[in-house]
Amino acid sequence: MTSLPERVTASLEAAQQLDTPAYAVADVVSTALELTGTASQPIQNALHGTWLGHPLHPVLATFPIGTWTLAFALDGSETLGLAQQRQVGQAADLALKAGVVGAVAAAAAGLADWRQVHGRDRRTGFSHAALNSAALGLTIGSLALRRRGRRGLGQVASGAGWLALMAGAYLGGHLVYRRRVGVDQADRSPEPRGFQPVLPVAELRDDRPHRVELWDEAARAMVGVVLVRHQGRVHAMGSRCSHMGGPLDEGWVQNGGLVCPWHGSRYCLASGRVLDGPSTAPQPRYDVRIRNDRIEIRHVPEPGDEALTPEEIAAGHARAEARAEPLPGSRKADEVLFEHHQLLRRLFETVEAMGAHDPERRDMMRLLAGELEIHEHVEDVIFYPAVRPVSEDVPVAHAEHQQLADMLALALRRGPSSPEFEQQLRALHKAVDHHASSEEKSMFKEAQRLGEARLRELGGQIEQMLEHERESRARSAFRALKIRLLEGS
Ligand code: FES
Ligand SMILES: [Fe+2]
Ligand SMILES: [Fe+2]
Repeated sequence: MTSLPERVTASLEAAQQLDTPAYAVADVVSTALELTGTASQPIQNALHGTWLGHPLHPVLATFPIGTWTLAFALDGSETLGLAQQRQVGQAADLALKAGVVGAVAAAAAGLADWRQVHGRDRRTGFSHAALNSAALGLTIGSLALRRRGRRGLGQVASGAGWLALMAGAYLGGHLVYRRRVGVDQADRSPEPRGFQPVLPVAELRDDRPHRVELWDEAARAMVGVVLVRHQGRVHAMGSRCSHMGGPLDEGWVQNGGLVCPWHGSRYCLASGRVLDGPSTAPQPRYDVRIRNDRIEIRHVPEPGDEALTPEEIAAGHARAEARAEPLPGSRKADEVLFEHHQLLRRLFETVEAMGAHDPERRDMMRLLAGELEIHEHVEDVIFYPAVRPVSEDVPVAHAEHQQLADMLALALRRGPSSPEFEQQLRALHKAVDHHASSEEKSMFKEAQRLGEARLRELGGQIEQMLEHERESRARSAFRALKIRLLEGS
């Protein structure tokens, strides 16, 4: 069952009769910009937020949303008699006026962005703009009524404006979160972490963008990269435009930049920076070198990336070798964790095989809950931080741990003899199996890049922590208390 707002949005998206007025408005805006010639480019860049590295429209939209909501609340408290002072009314009026300034600026930025979208998104954007224009008109009307002393009617008008604003905000949210308008569309794969040959130099001609593809194992997808030789230097950047995914390899070189064929965003060849919008996000960049007449590229890490280069991994191996020997007889971390996965699998099978009214079933479930929690804890604290630089799986694995903890809590809440418990237990078993198997298939393999010495060192730490978690009275008591609380809730 879809909600009413979803149904209304769907019918707006399908309403082709909106195309005529929408294209008429877009044509007027485009003609005005074309008449100003190149002078309009800096204005457009300013409105898109190219200078900010982020779309400007949502930033400006917070002004009318914040101020008009404040005015709505102040008017409401005045109407309900909660606040009678004159200052309350004055503050509401001031908030409405401040919001008008923000709304006009937000409309200009929104119009600049909207000009670039077509089809169903243009219709939704047009409806979004119509609602916000209605909100602006009602607010200005409300201010005029208030000045003439017709305060009550003015409050009704601005209240209606606030409702129109909220409806408009819903459509704006739909465009961004559902339709992905305005979000970064570039491929941000960390591969290749080390230099990889992609093309013989002789095949690249001056100022002719050339697409090559790389395999990203974690994403299980090809990643496109565009190579450009310009003034004797070879440059490389992601080929999927960050604006809306246009093919930069089908674009052209202009003033030291690569222009996207879809909406004309221009990216600096050397840095991937946006020189002209509508795009606001830079393109992914690659270091380039020539070896044996072949072009080799390596992904340039972005802020927040944790992927290590092969050189850094090798340095890490050397450091691990030089450190104190791991505990004698230590097994590798992935081996210790794999064994623990097997234990968890056996515990699940045991609980599932027990009869619903078996008196020992609850205790077995508690044992399973405790071991699962310990397992997640050692991975969160020791293993995941260590493998994060060599595996892309860690953020997802953390998210799955959270999901497993939530599912475990639900299972514990149901008594082990209830039918809901069986269902919840099966779902939890499936989720744990999926999580453990994907660790074994992918993360444990990637962890091998850390080198044997480091994995044995981590294995020793994990075994110590497993033992401590099981032996420590305080830790066991804490886990037991948590399990009892969940069972009783
Ligand atoms: S997709 Fe819009 S400028 Fe590239
Ligand atoms: Fe895990
Ligand atoms: Fe695990």
